[in-house]
Amino acid sequence: MSNTVLITLSDRVAWVRINRPEKLNALNSEVLLALHKELDQLQNNEAVRVVVLMGSGDKAFVAGADISEFAHFSPDQARELVHEGQEKVFDFIQNFKKPVIAAINGFALGGGLELAMACHIRIASDQAKMALPEVSLGVIPGYGGTQRLPQLVGKGRALEMILTGAMIDAQKALEIGLVNQVVAPEALLTEVAKMASKLLKNAPAAQAAAIQAVEAAFDNSQSGYDVEKDLFSACFDTEDFVEGTQAFLNKRKANF
Ligand code: COA
Repeated sequence: MSNTVLITLSDRVAWVRINRPEKLNALNSEVLLALHKELDQLQNNEAVRVVVLMGSGDKAFVAGADISEFAHFSPDQARELVHEGQEKVFDFIQNFKKPVIAAINGFALGGGLELAMACHIRIASDQAKMALPEVSLGVIPGYGGTQRLPQLVGKGRALEMILTGAMIDAQKALEIGLVNQVVAPEALLTEVAKMASKLLKNAPAAQAAAIQAVEAAFDNSQSGYDVEKDLFSACFDTEDFVEGTQAFLNKRKANF
């Protein structure tokens, strides 16, 4: 069995660790395949309510797609690589039915930053460095970076990062809205766990619907407002809604 992705389950939180520290957790096809397989299982595991993505070691979250793997690819092979990767990992995470937090413990470069951007919440160590350096290799970001970065930080800042390929530190990433929170490296896991416990207090069906509605805003093929109306009404048919409203009316804490 592949050990390039390690899973630890603790109190309804799945900690997913990309485990190639000697290559700064670069994403090769083995890692991408293992990530898809594990995430698919976690999505179907009712005991899991929140997923955390992180990298092994203290140096990198993920230092990008594995350059040695695609250096000799033809355009067709390159298209297949990103098509498969986007569908099985990056879009899969974006549309995951449970909140996914990126714990950015070091370098998040290229595909690594794209992976963090596909997650719903990003918490970074103050030692983390982020960039989309693809143009320095003669390519552009291919795992959604040209789309998700402008969504998060605005077009002007995104173009600056993409065209210069320059690294920014965690503080700058916080200033521009690329990450939600910056913490000391030794506090990273504790702060991520605190965020996970806030998420655990709320209704999972409503969280899944909220993710879907927010993502619809960025999908030109559908009206986000219509999706919101549909999902809002669908919530009224869930046990979570009964529990949430009854708990409020009975002045007790909801138990989701
Ligand atoms: N693909 C493949 N291998 C990678 C990699 C990547 N994206 N990023 C790092 N590695 C490998 C290195 O080749 C090296 O392997 P080796 O020990 O077998 O030579 C190992 O990880 C350690 O990296 P190294 O470069 O020695 O560490 P460093 O501290 O000197 O530099 C970085 C760290 C992150 C600045 C540097 O590794 C780097 O620039 N990586 C590529 C980043 C990138 O362009 N990513 C976008 C890809 S689309």
